[in-house]
Amino acid sequence: MNKQKTGVIQFYDTHPINEDEILAKLRARGDDPDKLTQDQLKDFDQDHYGGIDVVDALAERAGIQASHHVLDVCSGMGGPARWLAHRIGCRVTGLDFTLSRVEAARRLTRRVGLDGRVDFRHGDATAMPFEAGAFDVAISQEAWLHVPDKKAVIRECARVLKPGGTLAFTDVTLRSPLDAEEESRMAAEMHAPGVASVDRYLALLRDNGLQLAGNEDLSAMWTDTLVKRLAMYRGLRDTTVAKFGQAHFAAWDRTYSFFVGLFTTGKLGGARIVAHKD
Ligand SMILES: C[S@@+](CC[C@H](N)C(=O)[O-])C[C@H]1O[C@@H](n2cnc3c(N)ncnc32)[C@H](O)[C@@H]1O
Repeated sequence: MNKQKTGVIQFYDTHPINEDEILAKLRARGDDPDKLTQDQLKDFDQDHYGGIDVVDALAERAGIQASHHVLDVCSGMGGPARWLAHRIGCRVTGLDFTLSRVEAARRLTRRVGLDGRVDFRHGDATAMPFEAGAFDVAISQEAWLHVPDKKAVIRECARVLKPGGTLAFTDVTLRSPLDAEEESRMAAEMHAPGVASVDRYLALLRDNGLQLAGNEDLSAMWTDTLVKRLAMYRGLRDTTVAKFGQAHFAAWDRTYSFFVGLFTTGKLGGARIVAHKD
């Protein structure tokens, strides 16, 4: 396995948002993890910028319907996948290459009784373990910043969509060039080498026969969200130190402050992009 992939997996194996932390938050609120519903779990199981509202926004832009089979590319602990199946009634398959996330996703999904409609595969978004034309819609949220080969992930999404299918994703985007030190910290600490600009994504969609249907700038909203998220991670200090140690917490705090700083200075932003396969 290459160093980049190992780094991303380790990043998510030791992430402050994890299954134990989700269950602790539910218990603290007085919810019984053994009698859980998705309506309770939804408040803690989303690992993107925004909660279920932004999953609803993505689903609306993508036109997801109950009859659809949706692929969630880089599905993490499965929060968006479960929410879509619960709210819309569609079938959802999640794909992620971090095994601890896939296993947590499966356990959380069983807890809320959605395992008949939501399943998770362990695999790489740049070489998907699916037949061509298997899905009506593919979605992804805040994950492709970690994928060095953006061309491959878009090519794979185009391949596994049915003709007429829809790709709808949100991701971190490059708004103005990073200096050499910022580039190297993004690669080494955030495991995010070569963040793509919106123009780069639009070119890749065109090259893969996907017709652009929507392109929204989320930069201002995400900057606000990320500043709050940094405060939220700091609020998880005790549980993060107890699970992963003080040095890990300190390193995470340094890295995340740097990452959020790139948003507040306007170098990084975010976009919601929708495209249809011919
Ligand atoms: C920020 S989390 C997002 C999880 C989920 N989309 C959500 O919104 O809750 C990013 C996820 O992308 C996964 N990931 C990154 N690169 C990947 C790749 N090449 N193939 C599959 N999964 C990948 C990571 O393992 C991680 O679980």
